[in-house]
Amino acid sequence: MNESLFQEAFAKVQKRRLDAQLEQERRTIEISKAIPQIAEITRQLAQTSIRIMDVLQKGMDTDKQLEAIRQENLQAQSLCEKLLTDHGYPADYLKLHYSCPICNDTGYRQTEYCDCLKKEIASAAIARMNRKAQVNLSDFASFSLDYYKGRTIDGKDCYQAMRNIYQICVKYAENFSESSPSLLFYGKTGLGKTHLSLAIAREVLKTGKDVIYDSVINLFGQVEKEHFGRSNSEVDTLDMLLQLDLLILDDLGTEFDTAFNASLVYNIINTRLNRGLPTVISTNLDYQGIRNRYEDRIVSRLFAVYNCYEFIGTDVRILKKRENSPA
Ligand SMILES: Nc1ncnc2c1ncn2[C@@H]1O[C@H](COP(=O)(O)OP(=O)(O)O)[C@@H](O)[C@H]1O
Ligand SMILES: [Mg+2]
Ligand SMILES: [Zn+2]
Repeated sequence: MNESLFQEAFAKVQKRRLDAQLEQERRTIEISKAIPQIAEITRQLAQTSIRIMDVLQKGMDTDKQLEAIRQENLQAQSLCEKLLTDHGYPADYLKLHYSCPICNDTGYRQTEYCDCLKKEIASAAIARMNRKAQVNLSDFASFSLDYYKGRTIDGKDCYQAMRNIYQICVKYAENFSESSPSLLFYGKTGLGKTHLSLAIAREVLKTGKDVIYDSVINLFGQVEKEHFGRSNSEVDTLDMLLQLDLLILDDLGTEFDTAFNASLVYNIINTRLNRGLPTVISTNLDYQGIRNRYEDRIVSRLFAVYNCYEFIGTDVRILKKRENSPA
């Protein structure tokens, strides 16, 4: 697992190249059975380099003879194509078909990474972060509304409130798109904010979207390391956070209260809103806590633009413990 993101991504691109070559070999065998005439022409074409060497060695009338070989080859090739289409195959059936026509699955354009390789590096980074956060542990099916039944907080019915939130989360994950709104989950600890965030991450990931779920502490730590050059990471985490399809930031407010972190919170919230990209944030702070902690421009964006949901109830961890050891 110490393999670098680059190696992981590069191996994928190389595998595509190999697959393309294997597929060509498979097709060649298939066609040599289906259209034996093509197999014969291919054998002749394979002799081309030997014939060229021969011409060059003899050194007589070289240009004319090479041109003749070239013409013959072209004719043989168009004959093959005609035979293929006559038999109902596409004319380019025997050519190499790479997934990325820009770099032919080499991962490079001249000395630069091709976009297909960059995309693989980013997905490897996303997969790795989500693996760390164990996105698979919580899902909608294991979320029970029973824990909120028969409880009221400040006159509000916990079950009603949480059922509403649960249904909104399920629909959000189901219908997720680039134009989905941003969500803010706030409320005391142990009420299911992380659980539902993970459930959303899991469902949206399944649709092939780029999603990162992680705690603010982990993500900001990584960004800070890269910012101060203490990391030789191949990805720019901040860049990624600013352009992902869905960013799920857990435990806002647990990061150190530094100027760097405050500007990061603002940058992420603001840039993603400007780009119209949805973000899901959860925090154990209540409204007053958020106001005390963050500048007005952050508070106003969170409460005016995000859809905000207050989680209410009794710490589910405690309720589960009671279930397991009834008095
Ligand atoms: N409604 C629920 N049904 C089942 N498990 C829950 C529910 N709410 C929370 N949990 C579980 O209780 C623990 C704490 O919940 P968590 O989502 O981390 O709370 P929060 O993020 O609000 O502090 C987790 O293990 C979570 O899976
Ligand atoms: Mg949590
Ligand atoms: Zn490419």
